[in-house]
Amino acid sequence: MKNSILILFSLFLLVACSKKEPARITADFNAGWKFFLGDDSLAFQPTFNDADWRELNVPHDWSIEGEFSEEHLTQQDGGGLPAGIGWYRKSFKIDERKKDKAFYIDFDGVYRNSEVWINGHYLGKRPFGYIGFRYELTPYLNFGEEANVIAVKVDNSVQPNSRWYTGSGIYRNVWLVSTGKVHVDYWGTFVTTSDIEHNEARVKVQLQVKNSTPAHEKVTVKVYVMNDQDFIVEEEEREVEIASDPYTDEYNFVVAFPQIWSFESPNMYYAKVEIYSKNKRIDEYETPFGIRDFSFDAKKGFFLNGENIKLKGVNQHHDLGALGAAFNTRAAQRQLEILKEMGCNAIRMAHNPPAPELLDLCDQMGFFVMDEAFDVWAKKKMAHDYNDDWEDWHIRDLQDMVLRDRNHPSVMVWSIGNEIREQFDSTGLTITPELVNTVKALDDSRPVTCALTENIPDKNFIYQSEALDVLSFNYKHKDYPTFPVRFPGEAIIASENMSAFASRGSYNMPSDSILVWPEAYNVPIKNPNPDFTCSAYDHVHAYWGATHEETWKMVKELDFISGMFIWSGFDFIGEPVPYPWPTKSSYYGVIDLCGFTKDVYYLYQSEWTDKTMLHLFPHWNWNEGQTVDVWAYYNNADEVELFVNGESQGVQTKTQDQLHAMWRVKYQSGNIKAVTRKNGEVVLEKQINTASEAAKIELSADRSVISADGKDLSFVTVKVLDKGGNLVPNANNLVQFEIEGCGFIAGVDNGYQASHEPFKAKERLAFNGMCLAIVQAQNEVGTIRLKATSSGLETDEIEIVTKN
Ligand code: GAL
Repeated sequence: MKNSILILFSLFLLVACSKKEPARITADFNAGWKFFLGDDSLAFQPTFNDADWRELNVPHDWSIEGEFSEEHLTQQDGGGLPAGIGWYRKSFKIDERKKDKAFYIDFDGVYRNSEVWINGHYLGKRPFGYIGFRYELTPYLNFGEEANVIAVKVDNSVQPNSRWYTGSGIYRNVWLVSTGKVHVDYWGTFVTTSDIEHNEARVKVQLQVKNSTPAHEKVTVKVYVMNDQDFIVEEEEREVEIASDPYTDEYNFVVAFPQIWSFESPNMYYAKVEIYSKNKRIDEYETPFGIRDFSFDAKKGFFLNGENIKLKGVNQHHDLGALGAAFNTRAAQRQLEILKEMGCNAIRMAHNPPAPELLDLCDQMGFFVMDEAFDVWAKKKMAHDYNDDWEDWHIRDLQDMVLRDRNHPSVMVWSIGNEIREQFDSTGLTITPELVNTVKALDDSRPVTCALTENIPDKNFIYQSEALDVLSFNYKHKDYPTFPVRFPGEAIIASENMSAFASRGSYNMPSDSILVWPEAYNVPIKNPNPDFTCSAYDHVHAYWGATHEETWKMVKELDFISGMFIWSGFDFIGEPVPYPWPTKSSYYGVIDLCGFTKDVYYLYQSEWTDKTMLHLFPHWNWNEGQTVDVWAYYNNADEVELFVNGESQGVQTKTQDQLHAMWRVKYQSGNIKAVTRKNGEVVLEKQINTASEAAKIELSADRSVISADGKDLSFVTVKVLDKGGNLVPNANNLVQFEIEGCGFIAGVDNGYQASHEPFKAKERLAFNGMCLAIVQAQNEVGTIRLKATSSGLETDEIEIVTKN
């Protein structure tokens, strides 16, 4: 008996030992940090007692946990949330047997002014909050039983430093990388593709290898081109001597019958690099890439793989609504899904490098990306914005953005700035080429642009520097027709448009808000129906902007405009201008902070997709006899007819001039119904009933099965309905949540821009009949039960399953 147990045990050991550990481990280093909100100058010391610090996982944003107040130094532009100083610490052990490895800690983003220590040793400082950075830990590590302590100080106390909400803390992922001492460097590959034909394409892999041993090393480098099914498409092996640090090399391949990357079929490949020393694999590194060809033309706009495509884009800031700046891949993926449904094919990363996973998602889902570095250069917009760090850091930060992002097929243009002050004086003449050359030295496969506002050529010094490959302009769409004459031979992108205001489910925007415009721009809201408050039907916009319909009509008409980017896709926290406090988040989005669509979202869906759709608004709860404008956006039909309580209000057709159908009718309670027809046949019908009193809650989850990974999310929409199941359009009941099982509520919201209810809570007022609970999985397989109650309303309950 004893013997057989011994044999079994030895067999187990044999299997366990022969199971090869990967040569490189990129470990998720997000769990088990200690956090302290405040400053303690001794917290960098390994022996510091952090027993009463809070335990949490990063990505973490401490600002989003705070209370809204006008008194916070971030001010209204920054969302009126607290900033300050915070410390993070994490202890970890490293196996004795790993002494032959090199260790790094990679931070994807810390806002801002981070300083990092390992075991009391100072590793460095990184002021810019939007770029990733790495420190080598190897020389300072304890191996075996003695623990290591990483300490991170985050200083976001100097305010105001942004025109929008930034968040504070280690708000993106952290990785612990261990690999052989000779290994692919940080962002050490550059994959480019060229000569793309249907039967073959060239793929070049440029490689930078780091040797952290003092000796010359003889290694074997194998480079593979793999397809997304993990099949080797091409490969090459070289014996090389790594004599320099870093060592660089280049591998060239021809891929037969390439699977081309496009918006509809975002086919990906990856380059795999393996490094062997004495037949032992000491590093492996994968670089996803896509084979695609694109260009900008001064007459015809944008081409992808030879096809002329209009860029239908949105600008996106980095916050994720109730989650704040704390990055979550599923939350970002959901945003892109909602945008894709609208027909959007392009994202401008306003106005800073995004989380790397967001670019991965854009690659995988088929989006064009304008990757943008800065909102300011040397001349500031806010008292303490990036201009404070410009001199010492701008070259490094720009280089790092390019090094980090240059393998993404989605990234097709670099933007070196947004509405930069230097366009207005001669400093633009020198800084622009400096930045463009910095980009080109690392990537000459993509054009460089800058989002400009000054469209009088003589007055724009960034333009006059002649360094930009493509010109991007924000707003002033009425000037577009003159651009071919003003900017002869230049390819043009409309990088920012509209800045129109709307709040989901609200049909009048407070007109006194115009009082906070500068006197000279005190433009009254153009409400075409004085009997009815319909100003939020795509009528209200910033004085520098325009309505959605007007702008899109112009962009659609003009072939030389490569495309446009709505300001903005989603509402974001901060910059609610021109709405005064208590407003804390923007009205610009075509989608609100919760991810609920506003009416104008459907203008784009009708124009930007082939979907058969019909969207009818407003709701049907008004005062008897009131004059109400009823609008419909529709697609794939010749006409649309409206009925009020069964009585026809006439047939309408949208035209080139008017992209919606409109009826001015007298309100009678009951219902409105729109019917679209094609060749006389009914295509779609949409009916809205007058809602009676609020009677019940309805919960619906965007996904009812999520991963048990501690990160995945289910977005649960809460609707307040009457007894007949109609949304009660102005319901503002307080909804309370109870959660059981292996999940927790990561945030709640209702999209209301002036709400000061906390995002981290278990209750929320409905706003115009709706609110949202974001449920996050724990690391446990099982069931989550979410219950929503509200006084006087029928309760609802929902189950979400977590799986491995
Ligand atoms: C633009 C600016 C954006 C945002 C927008 C609001 O001028 O580039 O960041 O501020 O205005 O309308």
